Amino acid sequence: HTARFIIDPEFSIADVDRRLYGSFVEHMGRCVYTGIHDPEHPTADEAGFRGDVADLVRELGTGLVRYPGGNFVSGYHWEDGVGPLAERPRRLDLAWRSIETNQVGTNEFLGWAKGLGLEPMMAVNLGTRGIDAARALVEYCNHPGGTAWSDLRIKHGVADPHGVKLWCLGNEMDGPWQTGHKTATEYGRLAAEAGKAMRQVDPSIELVACGSSNSTMPTFGTWEREVLEQTYDEVDYLSLHAYYEELDGDRASFLASGAHMDRYISDVVSTADHVRAVRHAKKRIRLSFDEWNVWYAARFPGERNLETAETPRLIEDTYSVTDAVVVGSLLITLLRHADRVAVACLAQLVNVIAPIRTEPGGASWRQTIFHPFAQAARFATGRVLRTEINGSRIDTDRHGDVTALDAVVTHDETDGSLTVLAVNRAQDRPLKLEAALRGLPGGYRLEQHLVLTDDDHDAVNTEAEPNRVVPRPATGAHVTPDGVLEAELAPVSWNVIRLV
Ligand code: AHR
Repeated sequence: HTARFIIDPEFSIADVDRRLYGSFVEHMGRCVYTGIHDPEHPTADEAGFRGDVADLVRELGTGLVRYPGGNFVSGYHWEDGVGPLAERPRRLDLAWRSIETNQVGTNEFLGWAKGLGLEPMMAVNLGTRGIDAARALVEYCNHPGGTAWSDLRIKHGVADPHGVKLWCLGNEMDGPWQTGHKTATEYGRLAAEAGKAMRQVDPSIELVACGSSNSTMPTFGTWEREVLEQTYDEVDYLSLHAYYEELDGDRASFLASGAHMDRYISDVVSTADHVRAVRHAKKRIRLSFDEWNVWYAARFPGERNLETAETPRLIEDTYSVTDAVVVGSLLITLLRHADRVAVACLAQLVNVIAPIRTEPGGASWRQTIFHPFAQAARFATGRVLRTEINGSRIDTDRHGDVTALDAVVTHDETDGSLTVLAVNRAQDRPLKLEAALRGLPGGYRLEQHLVLTDDDHDAVNTEAEPNRVVPRPATGAHVTPDGVLEAELAPVSWNVIRLV
């Protein structure tokens, strides 16, 4: 079983933007409270943010973080989350039937993100609210001073504007579960006018319109077209969301989830470019894949069945080796589309379907999916090169015939290094990888081959055994004298191969 491709720096797709290594912090479950923020924790800073989690976020290498939702944002009054802590109201959060204490809000979050060097991506409420609340929030965050909203921020102790550049116009507004759910026409008009007013406050901001909540929505395709017909001149990006899980024991299809994501991206690009053609527009809409991950959603009881509680444990999925390999494959897919996908957020960051898990006041640890993300963010830099993969194939029920190998290559011109990210989707056999180096100076050698795999494809990391699944050095990979990288990839494995 062999898979082959060519590595040629002339076949370059786009630069790797740090925004592709984004994540997501929602006021949901324990992502914020006892996740990133836990004043009782021994490592907490003055603002109550956990130092151990901050260290893990740094190690994860995320470049951007979306906030505060998610479904939560569609009922959120951002004014509740600013000003003196003691005066902040406790509210019923309709999205997750939780009590929101508002002890973390805009200034705390943006201060935390800034301290970690993360670019914030803020969402405005277009569910229960509209143009006025949205433009007031932009003014509060970004206006230097001398107006009521900006002076209020200064009074709240933040003298310098936050300078938030990237803004989401609502969240999943096509979903019937969303508070303030809208038709494409209703949403498109509101998003266009809210976006216009927000830009009137700060012309330098960038705007993301909501695409479909996922590609199986009955309105998928028409929603994108209608929303863009209304918003094309105002927005820069259109959003995509996708969560994958193993269904009916069909692991082969689950391992091929990247094929689904690939088609989803292509379909949204085609729809956006159709609107572009009809409008004779020059501008190209880029995509913001602002929620993606593995999520065992079939196990979730559904919002309406939740008990009302403060900081409940919601969707704290424990991830396996197989899940990490799928996450790796999804990362590869996003990188392969780096010419059109500008932003991507692994949803979410801590506890809630997250790479990082914590216990209140206690331990924090890396889930299996932490590792492919951290390695890609660290090593896959520079330019993405096009890879045309040939060879061994797998037939799947949900996604048809796919290559056993999923791979992408990045070329960092600053030091000439090449990084191959590669997944073997086969469950029962190793895969021989052969990649011919072309148009590159001779003398490349293997720096390292790291692999994440396990004989038990269901192995997980837990608080008791946090390092059961970690990337380990693999042996045998080499570059032949005539410039062919040869490596063997274990079944169900995520691999990082570095050539220098
Ligand atoms: O990430 C969990 C939820 O999934 C988000 O709140 C929502 O946008 C999506 O449906």
